[in-house]
Amino acid sequence: MTKTLNVAMLGYGFMGKAHSNAYAKVAHFFPELETRPKLQVLCGRDKAKAEAFAKIWGYESVETDWRRVIERDDVDLIDIGTPNNTHAEIAIAAAKAGKWVACEKPLAMNCAEAEAMTRAIKEAGVPNLVWYNYRRVPAIALAHQIVQEKRIGRPFHYRATYLQDWTIAEDVPQGGATLWRLDKDAAGSGVTGDLLAHSIDTAMWLNGPITQVVASTETFVKERMHQESGKLQPVKIDDACMFLARFANGSMGTFESTRYARGRKNFNTLEMNGEDGSLSFNLEDPQYLSFYEHTRQDTGSKVEDHLTGWRKIHVTNFEHPYMDHWWVPGCTIGYEHTFVNTLADFLGDTEKGQRSRPDFEDAWQTQKVCDAVLKSAQEQRWIETGVDA
Ligand SMILES: NC(=O)c1ccc[n+]([C@@H]2O[C@H](COP(=O)([O-])OP(=O)(O)OC[C@H]3O[C@@H](n4cnc5c(N)ncnc54)[C@H](O)[C@@H]3O)[C@@H](O)[C@H]2O)c1
Repeated sequence: MTKTLNVAMLGYGFMGKAHSNAYAKVAHFFPELETRPKLQVLCGRDKAKAEAFAKIWGYESVETDWRRVIERDDVDLIDIGTPNNTHAEIAIAAAKAGKWVACEKPLAMNCAEAEAMTRAIKEAGVPNLVWYNYRRVPAIALAHQIVQEKRIGRPFHYRATYLQDWTIAEDVPQGGATLWRLDKDAAGSGVTGDLLAHSIDTAMWLNGPITQVVASTETFVKERMHQESGKLQPVKIDDACMFLARFANGSMGTFESTRYARGRKNFNTLEMNGEDGSLSFNLEDPQYLSFYEHTRQDTGSKVEDHLTGWRKIHVTNFEHPYMDHWWVPGCTIGYEHTFVNTLADFLGDTEKGQRSRPDFEDAWQTQKVCDAVLKSAQEQRWIETGVDA
């Protein structure tokens, strides 16, 4: 038997599009789900733009105030695809109204907000999701499976980069509807919350809690014209961030992010090195996971002959995570599918009455690391993250 889930999407920008596509597609590719999302309400402050978006995607109605959306009885799930400084107020109000809540990352502007949001969600007992969608890239999900199977053995190193290049020009303004990411009041932080939050979520999923960090940040362009005031204003976000990390399992990590790596567009990479093997992934080559096997899991014997080397696994076979829901082996999927996969897991877990991850609790832990990184950069010393072990 199918159940309709009335969805209200807040925001019609980049994520509004990615999430709307997921709601529209999920039942087609995961037909075993009982839950059938219905595009009920699209909310955006600009009525004409919201209506145009709603028409393209087939939303039943449009609202311009998110408070009005939360009051509606014909809405089951509030999806927050708006800038970071709006997440806390909306999520807390939605949870108090008993709605399911799906929120974009980073969960909040800071840890205090993330904690309040997580408490509100727990008190309300509502299904909740934070869209750390990279966990659902099949190759990253396969990396997780390989780690769970203990095929890389005792982990020594975790290495992540998240590089872009779109803010190098000094005349890129900050703030306003299009460049809120460069305005600390709207974004909370720069690359730490925007990009490294993804890397941290993936890292802790694969390799467990990060317990300590020491960081250095830089703001290369010190002033940019603010689109709202029309004036040159100080840039308060971190343009680049590098940090060292200690994991609870004893391994060491390095993380680097910048928007000043000429030629890098969305260069999100990870590598893990363990006693028995290594893993390597690059989002700009997302169909592949590289795996180096030093010790055979089945026999425990060393793989040491003239054919030893890295395997580049094309993650498109039916036995690979999610791929039995898509095309035939060899046919690839892309960025948008990670949102469909994320939603499918969320709906499936919720139908089974089980916790679906990453949820607000998980995203709060990631926020703890982000806050510790920024604090460390400011105080120039190692900081305990306080992440739950
Ligand atoms: N998971 C990912 O990979 C990923 C990628 C990009 C962005 N994000 C996150 O998604 C969120 C949105 O980012 P984006 O790139 O879609 O931004 P965007 O600027 O493209 O879109 C933001 C939307 O929010 C709307 N909005 C702003 N304030 C609002 C309010 N008070 N009420 C209703 N609508 C409001 C804007 O009009 C716009 O439609 C951010 O938290 C961002 O960090 C996540």
